Amino acid sequence: MNAFRIRPATGEDARVLTDMLVEAANWDPVRARPRLSVLEDRAVARYVAGWQRPGDFGCVAEDAHGLPVGACWARLFPANAPGYGFVAVGVPELTLGVYPYWRAQGAGRALLRELARTAAARGHARLSLSVAHGNFAHRLYQSEGYVTVASQGGSETMVLTVR
Ligand SMILES: CC(C)(COP(=O)(O)OP(=O)(O)OC[C@H]1O[C@@H](n2cnc3c(N)ncnc32)[C@H](O)[C@@H]1OP(=O)(O)O)[C@@H](O)C(=O)NCCC(=O)NCCS
Repeated sequence: MNAFRIRPATGEDARVLTDMLVEAANWDPVRARPRLSVLEDRAVARYVAGWQRPGDFGCVAEDAHGLPVGACWARLFPANAPGYGFVAVGVPELTLGVYPYWRAQGAGRALLRELARTAAARGHARLSLSVAHGNFAHRLYQSEGYVTVASQGGSETMVLTVR
């Protein structure tokens, strides 16, 4: 297994977060869209637009050479412009992605755990997310304690109570 380490995301990480956003949007290869088309979709692009704003936080996994492996980050959305996984004002919504070469080597789970630790350290009581039906990531989230609170339009909203 290849080695990776996890560090906090910084304002310099917009590129890797954008790559991971595209991976998350294109989780289903049958329905994958070109990168530009994904990023022109404002409902998707808002997950990284203007990174890193106050309130944004996340973590990046990188290999022994400092090259990115994946990322998990969270952002707050207002009630009048909610994200897909919005549950309440003040509950950050996360996005997770790992570069294809690095998948199934533990990076996704490690990033998810680090994000939960960071959320707790920042005083958040909950984290939320949206996952499409059929994405195996749903099982990963469940195994990390995320619970489904809503199901609509082919996706589920899940919430973690941060300990
Ligand atoms: C979802 C994703 C982040 C998982 O990252 P990862 O590094 O591959 O995940 P991990 O290696 O930590 O594996 C987590 C669990 O999922 C399982 N898993 C990994 N790849 C799998 C696959 N293709 N099918 C089914 N299960 C899989 C692993 O076996 C592991 O379970 P285990 O710990 O019980 O063995 C990654 O696959 C990805 O970037 N997918 C595209 C983007 C995406 O869908 N993001 C989530 C949007 S909601």
